[in-house]
Amino acid sequence: MALRALARVNLAAIERNVARLRAGLSGGAGLAAVVKGNAYGHGPVPAARAALAGGARSLAVATAGEASELRAGGVEAPVLVMGALSDEELRVALAAEAEVVAWNEPFVERVRAATAGSGGAPVRVHVKLDTGMGRLGTRDFDEAIHVAEGIAASAPALELAGAMTHFASADEDPSFTALQLARFGPFVSAMRERWPGLVVHAANSAATLREPSSHFDLVRCGIAIYGCDPMNEDPAAHGLEPALELTSYVADVKLARAGDSAGYGRRWVASSETWVATVPIGYADGIRRALTNNCDVLIGGRRYPLVGTVSMDNITVEVGVPDAVRRGDRVTLIGADGPEVQTAEDVARRIGTINYEILCGLTPRVPRVYHRDGTPA
Ligand SMILES: Cc1ncc(COP(=O)(O)O)c(C=O)c1O
Repeated sequence: MALRALARVNLAAIERNVARLRAGLSGGAGLAAVVKGNAYGHGPVPAARAALAGGARSLAVATAGEASELRAGGVEAPVLVMGALSDEELRVALAAEAEVVAWNEPFVERVRAATAGSGGAPVRVHVKLDTGMGRLGTRDFDEAIHVAEGIAASAPALELAGAMTHFASADEDPSFTALQLARFGPFVSAMRERWPGLVVHAANSAATLREPSSHFDLVRCGIAIYGCDPMNEDPAAHGLEPALELTSYVADVKLARAGDSAGYGRRWVASSETWVATVPIGYADGIRRALTNNCDVLIGGRRYPLVGTVSMDNITVEVGVPDAVRRGDRVTLIGADGPEVQTAEDVARRIGTINYEILCGLTPRVPRVYHRDGTPA
């Protein structure tokens, strides 16, 4: 029985992607698998386990809740929460034994206060320098060093664990990455000189693939471990295998005569006699409404245009002739069908966005089913 919307995730592909990325790392750097945002739509616990099986050293998430979810799923590997944390979230992160990121003294004070009297294992804190992302982190070298000193002075409750930054345009502009690396370099030297055991990390997937001098001790890869291209072009060009396939099925096929329309707003009207299939997947599943009249689907190894407005629960597809497809046929929105392939990158380019947004946008209504190269996981 076909499911109206189904995301099949190949955990073996995630494992292989991690192994491939690791093989390209310079100087013995490790890999932290970024599993925030529901593991870019793939499901955090299974994705984390697959990444660890592929050789990831640790995990990274954005929020305290995401760290908790990993622990609730039995994942024991080190987890770094990269985002900003309110007091309440900090307590949740610390309860999950996560590592955290600091860039100002008040936050270090809050971590100290949250750990006071706990007598537990030291909380590992990473210091973030903003070298050009303009988001989290301090731009001020001296402040970053001062924050590091405050953490080091709070031993044994706190442990100064790492020095990090984040690239703004490693996917688009290598010259800005070079500038960020030039700003990060003196910070790394100063930090390593005083605290030689620190883990230094900067690279996301794009920098991991394009800029070996950014690898330092650890890279933080998200999109690439899921087999997607951080440059939003072609994963295969980097030896990456997309792990997620999104399918639905043909619920009905019917004749449209010239003048008949499909969907809300009559945004598609048949100009001559044709056949239209209804596929029960829509924007409540993550099929963006902007794909109205602007996407393909794959059925029976062939490519057909999505016609009409994407509605909450259905899309319509022009199949042309009556016996082109049959009720119950599988419909692929992301993935391969015979010789035809449609990647998350292809879908994203249709509407001027990136593969990240397409994958993160798959909603909880879409069941995730896990397998390893076709064998149920
Ligand atoms: C701080 C940080 N590091 C690493 C990543 C991973 O990025 P990517 O998915 O491009 O590898 C992200 C994700 O946006 C991030 O916010």
